[in-house]
Amino acid sequence: MGTLSQPINEISQDNGLHVSGRDARSELDSSRSRDVNRSGNKTIITSRNHVHVHHLVRGALEQALKESDPVEDGTPTVAGYDFNQGVNYTKLFQTLPTMGFQASHLGQAIEAMNAMIDCRMKPVPAAEAEQTTLPCGRRRTNCTIMLGYTSNMVSSGNREIIRYLAQHNMIDCIVSTAGGIEEDFMKCFSSFYMGDFKLKGAELFEKSHNRTGNLLVPNTTYCKFHSWLNPILDTMVEEQKQGAEWTPSKLIWRMGKEINNPESIYYWAYKNQIPVFSPAITDGAIGDVLFFHRHLHPGNSIKLDIVADVQTINDLALFSVNTGVLILGGGVIKHHILNANIFRYGTDYCVYVNTGNEFDGSDAGASPEEAISWGKIKLTCKPVKVYAEATVILPILVGETFAKRQAEFTAFNSCHSF
Ligand SMILES: NC(=O)c1ccc[n+]([C@@H]2O[C@H](COP(=O)([O-])OP(=O)(O)OC[C@H]3O[C@@H](n4cnc5c(N)ncnc54)[C@H](O)[C@@H]3O)[C@@H](O)[C@H]2O)c1
Repeated sequence: MGTLSQPINEISQDNGLHVSGRDARSELDSSRSRDVNRSGNKTIITSRNHVHVHHLVRGALEQALKESDPVEDGTPTVAGYDFNQGVNYTKLFQTLPTMGFQASHLGQAIEAMNAMIDCRMKPVPAAEAEQTTLPCGRRRTNCTIMLGYTSNMVSSGNREIIRYLAQHNMIDCIVSTAGGIEEDFMKCFSSFYMGDFKLKGAELFEKSHNRTGNLLVPNTTYCKFHSWLNPILDTMVEEQKQGAEWTPSKLIWRMGKEINNPESIYYWAYKNQIPVFSPAITDGAIGDVLFFHRHLHPGNSIKLDIVADVQTINDLALFSVNTGVLILGGGVIKHHILNANIFRYGTDYCVYVNTGNEFDGSDAGASPEEAISWGKIKLTCKPVKVYAEATVILPILVGETFAKRQAEFTAFNSCHSF
C-alpha cells in the first residue's frame, strides 16, 4: 500500500480507469493535454499517453462515479408545489407527500386519516354485526376513532378544531389531561389572550396573568371556573348519597351538560355521548377545586372511580371491530390510548403528531416502531408520526380529511344512532 508521498501508479490510455457514469477518461484526457506535474506526487502526467494516478485517488474516483442500481418502479419523485399555478391550497397540500421531510409525513398522515375514515364508513362485517353497541353504550361502527390531545391543545386554537370533530360526531372517544378538560370550560367564561414567549414571569405574576407558551390566561378565569364548578360538585355529592357512582368521564359529561354552550368541546361530547377519559384529572384546576371542596366539606366530598374508567376505555378498544388513533402530543394521553389497544393486539390505523424524540427513552417521544414491539400497533398498520408542533399540523390534517368529508359524516350519522 502506498501513501500519497510514495510512488505513483501509472495508467496508460489503454488500461486506464474503468469507471462508469461521468466520463472519467475525458477528465484525464484534458489533464494530459496540459502535461501537469503536481507536487505531492498525487497525480503526475508523464506523457501525452500515460497518466499516473495514485491508487487512492483511483479508488475514490471509482467510488464517486459508481452507477446506481435501478430505482424500484413506481417510486415517487421529489417535487414541491409550483406557485405558477396560483395560490391553490388544495393542490399545494396534494404535493405534501412528495415534498420530503416532515411535509411528506404530514402527507402520509392525511392518507392514513382518510383510510381510517374510509374504514369507519364501511359496514360492520356480518360475522361481527350481532353486537351493535360498544361497552360505553356508543354505536359500534367498523372503526372506532380514538382522539388524544395534551392540555395545551385546548389552550390554543386547536380547541375550536377539536370542538368541530366532537360537534359532528366524527370521533368515538377522547382522552385528554386535566388542563385539556378545564380550559375548554374556562374559555366559555373568559377569553385567553395572545402574549409572547419572552414575557417576564415576575411581571406576569404581579398581574396574575398566567402564561402558557405565548398565550395568557388571566387568573380571574380560574376564579370563575371555581365558582361555576363548586355548586355542581355539591349536587353530585348529593346524588352520590342516593347511589350515584362517579368517574372522571361521568364528571366531564356532567360538566358538558351543565355548561350548555355549543362553543364547548365537552358540551358536544355529552350531547353526542362521546366518552371522554382523563385518568389524571386531578392534575390541574379541576384537582384544585376538588381539593378545596374536600377541605370545605369534610366527609362529604365526591369520589371518582378511575378503575371503572380504565375498564371502559380498555373494553372500548377490545370490543371494537377496528380502531384508529389520532394522538396530538405525548405523555399520559398517548400512552392511555395505546395501552387500551394492547388488549386487541394493536390499533389498525395510527397517526401521531408530536415533537418528542426517542433518544431519552421517553414514552412521549417513542416512535410507532417502539409501540409495535409492545403490541400497541398492529403489524398490518402503516403508522405515521409527524414530528411537528400540532397547532401547525392539526388545521391542515382536519381540513384535508374530516372537514372535507363532513357531508359523508352527516349522511353516515343520520343512519346510525350513536
Ligand atoms: N395548558 C396546559 O398545558 C396545562 C394546564 C393545566 C394543567 N396541565 C397539566 O400538566 C400536565 C402535563 O401536560 P400534558 O400531559 O397535557 O402534556 P405536556 O404539555 O407535558 O406534553 C407532553 C409531550 O407532548 C408533546 N407535545 C406537547 N405539546 C405539543 C405540541 N404543541 N405539538 C407537538 N407535540 C407536543 C411533547 O413531546 C411533550 O413533551 C398534565 O397533567 C396537565 O393536566 C397542563
